[in-house]
Amino acid sequence: MSELVQKLFSESDLTDIEFERLLSSDIFDVELRVVADGVRRLYYGVDVYVRGLIELSNYCRNDCFYCGIRRSNRELERYRLSREEILTCCGVGYELGYRTFVLQGGEDNFYNDDTICEIVATIRKLYSDCAITLSLGEKSYQSYKSFFDSGANRYLLRHETADAEHYVKLHPAEMTIDNRKRCLFDLKQIGYQTGAGFMVGSPYQTVQNIISDLRFLQELQPAMIGIGPFIAHHQTPFQFFKNGDLKLTLRLISVLRLIFPYALIPATTALGTIDPYGRELGIAAGANVVMPNLSPVNVRKKYELYDNKICTGEEAAECRHCLEKRIASVGYKIVTDIGNVKEKIKK
Ligand code: 5AD
Ligand code: FES
Repeated sequence: MSELVQKLFSESDLTDIEFERLLSSDIFDVELRVVADGVRRLYYGVDVYVRGLIELSNYCRNDCFYCGIRRSNRELERYRLSREEILTCCGVGYELGYRTFVLQGGEDNFYNDDTICEIVATIRKLYSDCAITLSLGEKSYQSYKSFFDSGANRYLLRHETADAEHYVKLHPAEMTIDNRKRCLFDLKQIGYQTGAGFMVGSPYQTVQNIISDLRFLQELQPAMIGIGPFIAHHQTPFQFFKNGDLKLTLRLISVLRLIFPYALIPATTALGTIDPYGRELGIAAGANVVMPNLSPVNVRKKYELYDNKICTGEEAAECRHCLEKRIASVGYKIVTDIGNVKEKIKK
C-alpha cells in the first residue's frame, strides 16, 4: 500500500500537502477504494441504510446561484405538500420498509414552526420506531430546539463550502458562511445527529477549498456527510459551468470514509445523475446510505435542483425495489433499519 493511503487509514488524517497530493491525482484511487471499503465493512458490514426522501415544498426564499429552485427562477411551477400528503408518504414508506423519513424542502416560510412541530409530533406518534430527519435550511436555535423537542432526531444542512471567499461566489450577499456554521453547531448542541456536506466541482472550487471543507468537517464531527457533484441547472446563473467530476467525487467518498470511519455517507442522487452507475460506484467507494425519493410522483419533476435529475419520471413510482437490485448488484444489502450512526470503535 502507498504510504499516503496507509497513513490516512491508520491516522484518519493527513497534512494539507498530503491531502493535495491524494486529491489531485487518480493513481491512488483503486487502493483508496479498497481500504475505504474495508473500513466501511468493519463498522457497517455490507448494510446500506435507506432514507425515504419527502420533498415538502419547492418554494424557497433563498437565491443560491447553483440551485434550480432558487427564488429568481420564475419558470418553475411551485408546489407544496399538505400535512395529509406528507403523512400519506410516510405511510407508504413505512410499508415499503423505510425507517427514516427525511422531510426536505426549500426555505418556505409558509410552514411556520408550529406546523412543522405538529407534523413531526404526528409522525413520531404514528411511527415510533422511525427516525425523523429534517432538512429545511437555516433557522434560529429556538426553531431547531422546538422541532427536536417535537420528536425530530436528525438534521441535514450542507455547509456547501467552508471557505468564506468561495461561499460568496456561490450565494447572494444576504447569506453568510458564519450563519451556516452557527446553524450546524446549534444543531449538534441541541442533540441532533447532524449532517453537513458540499458539492464537488462547484463553480470556482479549488483543491484548497476542498481541504478547507475536510478541516471544517473535522471540527464539526458530523454524524452524516453528504457530497455530490455540482450539476448545472439551465435556469440559474451557473448554467454554463461544467459539472463536477465522477472520479473526484468517488475519491472524496473514500477519503471521507477514512477520516470519519463511523459516518453515514450517502451515495447521492446527483451522483446517480452524472453516471448511470454513480450510486453503485459510490457505495463501493465507501458510502453506506441511499436516499430514494418518496415524494408523490406528480411533484417530483418540480423539485429539480439541477438538470436531468433521476427518479422523476413515471417509471420511478417505486425507487425502493430499483435500488435494492442496484445495491445487490455490487454486493451490498439494503436493510430495514433505523440506521443510527455507530459509536466510534477502535480499529
Ligand atoms: N448541483 C448539485 N447539487 C446541488 N444542490 C443544489 N443545487 C445543486 C446543483 N445544481 C445540492 C446542495 C443542497 C442540496 C439539497 O442539493 O448542496 O444543499
Ligand atoms: Fe429511483 Fe431507480 S432508484 S428509479
